[in-house]
Amino acid sequence: MGEWESNRCRRCFNIVPDGPKCPICGATRDDFLPPSERHNLFARLSFYSSVVASLQWDAQAIDLGPDARAWQDMPNERRQRLTRLLAGFCVAEDAVAEHLRPFGDATDDTLLAWVLFLQRRDEVRHAEFFDRVGAEVLGLAGASAAERRAAARELTTPAILDLFETELPAMAGELAASRLQLEDGVSLYHMVIEGIVLSSAQQALLEDLEDGAMPGVSDGVHRVSLDERWHIGLGLRCLIEAQPSPDKIQELMGKVHEASEAWGDAVPQPIRDHVTQLTARRMSVSGLGGYADPELDPLQGLVS
Ligand SMILES: [Fe+2]
Ligand SMILES: [Fe+2]
Repeated sequence: MGEWESNRCRRCFNIVPDGPKCPICGATRDDFLPPSERHNLFARLSFYSSVVASLQWDAQAIDLGPDARAWQDMPNERRQRLTRLLAGFCVAEDAVAEHLRPFGDATDDTLLAWVLFLQRRDEVRHAEFFDRVGAEVLGLAGASAAERRAAARELTTPAILDLFETELPAMAGELAASRLQLEDGVSLYHMVIEGIVLSSAQQALLEDLEDGAMPGVSDGVHRVSLDERWHIGLGLRCLIEAQPSPDKIQELMGKVHEASEAWGDAVPQPIRDHVTQLTARRMSVSGLGGYADPELDPLQGLVS
């Protein structure tokens, strides 16, 4: 039990229930033994099926009526901040659901392809939930999800639009054409987009809504954030297996820093710093980085 510190997984640094496996990244106690004593490096991919089953929820079942009423009376400054985040999610979750498609074809491992299919099912549900928030709470104009998403585009930041409408589709296109490897896609999708951009905005929303002002939105964002944790864990697992080159880690950390600014001041600086450091720690304890010359280590100074 000494390998699990305060119920915090040493690999992904998420708080985990006491048990034989981390439900986020799949690490077992075995992973923290010296290499010569390990039995298996990773938990079996089939473990994700039980994680997914335990997290199932219905995007249509959350009552957004009280949220819609509270929205009308919300002070302008708070409403603008929340609008930027929630409209961003209307754009982002639809994009991640769409552009996860090529990932399953980029692996010969059928079990990994199945888990990526499960992840995509989550993303479709997230898109459905945030479309409801757009329609029922924000009051976005449009008779269809596509029309409401077009309205949401006008309300979020240029950096978010660039990331989800240009950079992510371009990467997915390269992956589909076999000009990128799976780990390249995972670096942008799971580590940067999910680990930094979406994670920081979820935290900002949950902190903002701690006062119970919008219980339905808060509940949905909380459920989304739980799903996203295993997605990030899956990405980390892929990266550990692929062992990307130092140059690719350097490139990834550059994107991490850039992406942490994507929401502007709608995400408070302490949350941006926290998700950046968390990503660096996840990679460091997973053996990604760890340069002989500390001056060259892109994780240097980020891992305490
Ligand atoms: Fe999602
Ligand atoms: Fe996700």
